Amino acid sequence: MRRPLVRALAGALALLPAGLVAPLAVPAPAAADSVVVGGRPVRTAESPWVVALSSRDRFGGTRGGQFCGGVVVAPDRVMTAAHCLSRAVLGEEVRDVPDLRIISGRTELTGSGGVEVAVTDTWVSPQYDPVTNSADLALLTLADPLPASRVITVAPVGDPAYTPGTTASVYGWGDTTGEGAYATSLRAAQVSVLSDTTCHRAYPGGLDGRYIAATMLCAGDSRGGRDACQGDSGGPLVAKGRLIGLVSWGSGCGLAQSPGVYTRVSAVELPHGAVRGAQEATRV
Ligand code: ARG
Repeated sequence: MRRPLVRALAGALALLPAGLVAPLAVPAPAAADSVVVGGRPVRTAESPWVVALSSRDRFGGTRGGQFCGGVVVAPDRVMTAAHCLSRAVLGEEVRDVPDLRIISGRTELTGSGGVEVAVTDTWVSPQYDPVTNSADLALLTLADPLPASRVITVAPVGDPAYTPGTTASVYGWGDTTGEGAYATSLRAAQVSVLSDTTCHRAYPGGLDGRYIAATMLCAGDSRGGRDACQGDSGGPLVAKGRLIGLVSWGSGCGLAQSPGVYTRVSAVELPHGAVRGAQEATRV
């Protein structure tokens, strides 16, 4: 049984304060035992660019208000998925969310480590298409800058880190089973970048969604069992030390035939000067 895109998005609603169980739960993938499905615990100290997006007003306080992931791309900018800022996820327009914050340096969401930083501005890619999920990318401007040591380099167009077969890691505090078991501690799973042919075959269009090579990439594990899942959206996919993708969508979680689909960050045009290094690097 596969999970259509619309249901994948609805899964984020399962994080609402009422503590609703995912309304359309899918069977747990066979290999999912432990993001991130099939992952391992990691610490923010080793991956300082991973942040949690938080609103206790919208999502309750038990897990620090976490509802999506994000990644630090400049001291005062966090990149995330555009769909994370949608009314479908927030239940409000983003400008009406009173306490949108990022949490940096806090491995354990139930703890008080690291810092919480307010968001003063949001930018959603004008290329974003909520129907297809193409160009699923947004930027948050932070009220106070984070240390430069927390910034990850965004992979430029043509970066070899996008080559199929490259090992990548996805990070998040999302569902670890596909059944609404949200992690309180950060996890990462190792996946492989897949070829566009494989991604098109997995998502030819229709109920499961359509893979669009220009603005997406897909990654997974041929046996299944390792993947991002609900609540990981907006979080980073990292290869060769650079940011190549943002968790965007997928059918179910960790299913061998349905890899995770990510925003191809190099393909989305960013506001001029927003992300040092990223688009400049292409000109070197
Ligand atoms: N849309 C989901 C979210 O909002 C992410 C789903 C990713 N799914 C996957 N199988 N990789 O959190």
